[in-house]
Formats: sequence, structure tokens, C-alpha cells
Amino acid sequence: MSSNAPVDKSMVINESLEALALVLEYNNRDFPDHQHGRRVGEGCALIGEKLGLPPRKLQQMYYAGLLHDIGKISIDINLLGKREKLTDEEFTVIKKHSIFGSRILATLPGLNDLALMVRWHHEWWNGSGYPDGLAGEEIPIEVRILCAIDCFDSLQTPRLDRDRRSPEDAYTIIEDSRGKQFDPKIIDLVLEMIHEKTLVPGKSSNKFLTLKKKYIDVPIYGYGEELKASSMAGLYPILRLFARVIDAKHKYTRGHSTRVSILSKYLAEKMQLSPSDILKVEIAGLLHDAGKVSVPIGILDKPGPPDDKEWEVIKGHAPHSFEILSKVSFLKDIADISASHHEKYDGTGYPNHLAGNQINYLAQIIAISDTYDAITSTRAYRKGLPQEYAYEVIRKGMGTQFNPNIARILLDNSPKYISALFDIHEVND
Ligand SMILES: [Fe+2]
Ligand SMILES: [Fe+2]
Ligand SMILES: [Fe+2]
Repeated sequence: MSSNAPVDKSMVINESLEALALVLEYNNRDFPDHQHGRRVGEGCALIGEKLGLPPRKLQQMYYAGLLHDIGKISIDINLLGKREKLTDEEFTVIKKHSIFGSRILATLPGLNDLALMVRWHHEWWNGSGYPDGLAGEEIPIEVRILCAIDCFDSLQTPRLDRDRRSPEDAYTIIEDSRGKQFDPKIIDLVLEMIHEKTLVPGKSSNKFLTLKKKYIDVPIYGYGEELKASSMAGLYPILRLFARVIDAKHKYTRGHSTRVSILSKYLAEKMQLSPSDILKVEIAGLLHDAGKVSVPIGILDKPGPPDDKEWEVIKGHAPHSFEILSKVSFLKDIADISASHHEKYDGTGYPNHLAGNQINYLAQIIAISDTYDAITSTRAYRKGLPQEYAYEVIRKGMGTQFNPNIARILLDNSPKYISALFDIHEVND
């Protein structure tokens, strides 16, 4: 993607899975880079190594740990955060996260094993887990490890629905579930790992970092050579997944990234930009709001306009998008575009008050599509407004908020065209 140096794409999937994990848990500010998913991934790989499991398994276990709860993006946030006792029906819904997670990962080619591990991360040794009621040795060893580490670490992690437990409490709870929820010999290994202090919240241990370099930071089997030769189009499944995860975090942003991507691509085509720029703006549309995951749910879903303090937090999403996307080497250009999608043509935007052609040209396209979709979509505090109103706002912002030449391209297209465009992609609200 970078305009100057060719990018080695063999690690794209590894980097993307790491970035996805970051997006999933970004609003946890305790240990921004070392959160629950990452700790579970590290614990899985460390115990897998103790057991002498093959390198490819260790790698899968790490990624399964990072992403085990990805299915929660398909579950209502209010339900996930409920502190009162759940009804049976509510619990049935929450339990579906493991199935949803496996389906989400199965949309990425070649990651079946990973998808199954995620599906089974709540299967219990005595057969009373979910969703498939596997028991004992029927549960693959790597899943038994995942299940134990997940529970042990999750007990010590503060969550929406409950407070954190002390390490001693967590220790007693998993010890009590030995032979019921957990394979007894895995519990011994977890305890051994605790004594060795190779997994502690806050930062990766040297032992893990050595393991990671050797077994995890290598091209995922079946991906290395193929990716080197593939075009960007081969990465669509993972890019779309990013957009889904970003939009799922907040009730009122569902579909936003996809619509911004579709509209920006449409405008770029009308402007006869180069195929490479068209592709970049399409991808930037999908990912521009990656940093929104850093904004607490309460602020974005608030049934009223944000106050000054909340507004500052919301504005932080642009630099956060940059921070997250910069972690994936082939997304460097996209990170630049995303950082600037709230700059205004007259220099009054954020975060850097850039003006005119100081603003990345593709970011100026995103700014227009973004405004269009923000106005026409329903928000926590108001219903979606008519397309004509969005056109009026964009017309009035020509030369102040927006590049007038790009705004003109949109305004020259009947709003009915935009509805039709969204309809053919099935992304109308
Ligand atoms: Fe889970
Ligand atoms: Fe934004
Ligand atoms: Fe946006």
C-alpha cells in the first residue's frame, strides 16, 4: 500500500489479528497494550509450550486467546453490561457469543482451527459447558488450556457486569472447579505458571517474548507465500471484519463504516482518481473510525449532545485511529487518511487544524461521506435526518468545512442515486 517501499505482506494476517484484538478491548485503560485477551493468548502459548505442543498449535492458541470473545460484538451491549442476575433467556443470548465468534472467524479463509477453538472456549471438562456439550478428552487439549486461562484471568479483570477478584480469590475458584469445569492436569500447569510469574498483568514476560519471536511472529501456515503474491483484494475479508468490529462497539454506528467506504469509493470513481487511490479511500472508509472504540459507550450512546469534556474524549478518536492502524504495516497510508478525516478545509477542524491541501486529499473525500452518513443515520439523541438536509449542510460547508470541488461531485448526484447505491450493497438502514 505504501507509495514508496514495497510492503512485505506475509505478516499481514498476524498484524491484523493483533490490531483487531486491540480494537476489541481498546477502552480498557488499565493496561492498554496488555489486556484480558492478550493475557489469555500469552497464557495459552506458555502452557502449550510446557506441554510440548507443536509450534503451529502454539501460534493458533495465542490468536484464539486474543480473539476468544470476538462474538460479543454481536450481542447487545446493555445485556453484556448488566450487573443484576441474568434471566435464563438473557443467559441463553450471552452464551451465543462463542458460536457467533466462531462464525466471524470462519469468514477469514484458512482459519478453521482457530474458529473451532473460539467456538469451544466455554466447553467444560464434565460435559456441562456450551455450545456443543463436549466432555473430557473430547475437548481438544488446546481448548482445555484456553478455557482455564480465560476463566483465571477474567476473574481478575474488571468488567462491565462485575468487579475484579483478587488473584487469591481467582486461584481458589479455579482450584475448586478442578475436575468439574477444568481438566485437573491443566490446573496444575496454570498454578506452575503463576509461580513462575511468566504471566502477570501489565507487560509480557521475557519468556513469552522469546516464545513469540520463535513461534508466533512467523507467517501463519497457508498465508505467507499466498499473501506475498496476492493483491489487496485478498485482504477484504479481514478489512470488512475490522469495520464490523469497529461499528459493533456502539449501537448507533452499525453500518456506518461500510456506508462511508461505499460512498467515498463512489465519489473517488466519479473524480477519476487512480485505481490505487480508489482502493485506498475505500479501505480508509472502512477503517477511519477505528479509534472510536476508545470512546466509552456511555458517551457515544448518550441521549443528548455531548458536553465539553465528553466532546474532548470523542475528538480523541482520530489520533487513536492513527495509533491503531499504524500497527499494521500495510495500513500506514490508511492510518494517515484516518487521522485527518475531521480536519476542515478552513483549518478549524481537529486534531491538527490543517487547512486546504495540507489535508490528505483522500481524507477530504472521507470527511464528506462521513458527514453525509452522520446526518442521515439515527443517533442516540435524534432520528436520521432527510438526505436533502445533508446535501444542504454540505452545500453550506463548501470552502469552509469541505473542499468545494469534492463537495460539488456529491451535490451533482441526485440523493436518489445515493439511496440506490446503498441499496445495491444492502447497507440502507
Ligand atoms: Fe467467552
Ligand atoms: Fe470520525
Ligand atoms: Fe465516521
